[in-house]
Amino acid sequence: MAILTIPERATIIPDPEAIQAYLNARGIVFEQWQAQCEFAPEASQDDVLAAYDHALKPYMAAHGYQTADVISVHLQTPNLPEIRAKFLREHTHTEDEVRFFVEGQGYFWFNLGGDEPVFCVKCVSGDLLSVPANVKHWFDLGPVPHVKTIRVFTDAAGWIPHYTDSGVEARYLSAVSV
Ligand SMILES: [Fe+2]
Repeated sequence: MAILTIPERATIIPDPEAIQAYLNARGIVFEQWQAQCEFAPEASQDDVLAAYDHALKPYMAAHGYQTADVISVHLQTPNLPEIRAKFLREHTHTEDEVRFFVEGQGYFWFNLGGDEPVFCVKCVSGDLLSVPANVKHWFDLGPVPHVKTIRVFTDAAGWIPHYTDSGVEARYLSAVSV
């Protein structure tokens, strides 16, 4: 189950519909998809994409996305400390960062600015989240890195991170334990 946390307001939102409403009101897409067939943990990229084709294809067509792939990060991933550190710094992208969680979990943090408090969305298997282009965010793999996600792109070059160097993420590194 996804969980939305707002540390400064000591608020935790566990209900998927309430999470979706909170995110949609801020221009962030959140959906939940189910696989239309079973697949093994070691299934190929094509098998994973096929299992979600019924949801993925219409979503890509509706938003104009061109390509999709599957990536995994886990404890045996080479260069894990570097990968983790890269995700953990506040950054933006010039296109949406779309992630569908096939397995495992991860924590997307958002810093929308203005009066909006920083908040975190823990995503788990079945959750789709799209970070809009140019929105400040970072991603925490959590205490035990384990995640397999489908990524969706208009142009893979758009996913290059542009770091803000604000250092704001340091305030929240231990803020979420749920
Ligand atoms: Fe990102």
